[in-house]
Amino acid sequence: PGADGVRRFPLTLRTGHTEFLTGKPAETWGINGSYLGPTLRMRRGDLVAMDVRNQLPQPSTLHWHGMRLPARMDGGPHQTIATGGTWSPQWRVDQPAATLWYHPHPHGETADHVWRGLAGMIIIADDAGLPARYGHDDIPLVIQDRVIGDDGEMEHDKRPTFGLMGDDILVNGTLGAQLEVYTTLVRFRLLNGSNARVYHLGFADGREFHVVAGDAGLLTAPAATARITLSPGERAEIVVAFAPGEPAVLRGFAGDDDVDDGNHQILRISAAADLSRSPALPDRLPGAGPVAVPAGARVRRFKLSGHDEINDREMDMNRVDEVVPAGAREIWEVRNAVYAHNFHIHGVDFTVLDVDGTPPPAWQAGRKDTVYLPPKKTARLAVEFDRHTDAATPYMYHCHILRHEDDGMMGQFTVV
Ligand code: C2O
Ligand code: CU
Ligand code: CU
Repeated sequence: PGADGVRRFPLTLRTGHTEFLTGKPAETWGINGSYLGPTLRMRRGDLVAMDVRNQLPQPSTLHWHGMRLPARMDGGPHQTIATGGTWSPQWRVDQPAATLWYHPHPHGETADHVWRGLAGMIIIADDAGLPARYGHDDIPLVIQDRVIGDDGEMEHDKRPTFGLMGDDILVNGTLGAQLEVYTTLVRFRLLNGSNARVYHLGFADGREFHVVAGDAGLLTAPAATARITLSPGERAEIVVAFAPGEPAVLRGFAGDDDVDDGNHQILRISAAADLSRSPALPDRLPGAGPVAVPAGARVRRFKLSGHDEINDREMDMNRVDEVVPAGAREIWEVRNAVYAHNFHIHGVDFTVLDVDGTPPPAWQAGRKDTVYLPPKKTARLAVEFDRHTDAATPYMYHCHILRHEDDGMMGQFTVV
């Protein structure tokens, strides 16, 4: 923090060049650099001030995905930053430790801006006794699929229904990523930063690992599993055990849904011959636990149809679809009429009550802000809304498959 107690983050959206293939630079966009942006570390209680400068040839925005803050600071489609302009939101971090992220949200252009490279991770640090040495035993993994041509350029390959997708997997902007680890336990903060691809993640040798956090913070206890699914925008923190000298491969496996065709290698890991012994994984974690919805709580229903509509209408920047009382806890029932989608709500935490009547597995039972909706399923969410009120500035809810969001599968709500 500076002398005034404020933690300042200067962030410049800019164009640049990135060598995904050595000696063959691609034209990319980045934040402070040429692809992706810095990881922003903060703690609960911090007063943070962003200085976002737009040096792109187009207007854009920067949204703090998962942050609980006043709608004016949210960086959604109403907080546009003109070319050459600066936007300086400021807020107090007042939510549990979590892995969040930031990315542009200009209406109709989000898919293009994210695909070109604009995104970064936000860490609200915890004191839970988990591996926490950033870059050593606490490793961010921003997973994105892209198309890198033989000439090294990033191609814009729009597929039917789901938009921009590719078969070249980038991790933190690196094609064919590899990592050496030096401790017996390593925490990975996984972010699906892809435009559309859903990943069914696990290790090639089928080993189990522990999920310790979902989108919006820690679980109440580590949950053992061998496979997790992350749709665009979702995060999970996992802790993986390694033996000295051992290799491991984090992979995406094929699913049975229509948006994931893939067996993909994500990250090749090798454990050093000598590993320093990590403290044991705690049995309990200080997660917030499920959102408790009071009896008789309001139920709102949302139907996602085609690739562009919620409740039979497209997004309209000038229409507020829902008005929610401050601090309300409600049930949001989201029905997916046809093919794969997901659903993200700004400025809230939710827990998934069930998907088609089945409660989520332990690793998915923590607080979230984005939920995967396989084809023709209905998710019931217990949603806790913010206490920040603003009748004039809406928050968004939308499908986080960015083509769908851009096409209008988005709505607006205010908290009053
Ligand atoms: Cu990650 Cu409305 O966004
Ligand atoms: Cu968001
Ligand atoms: Cu969708």
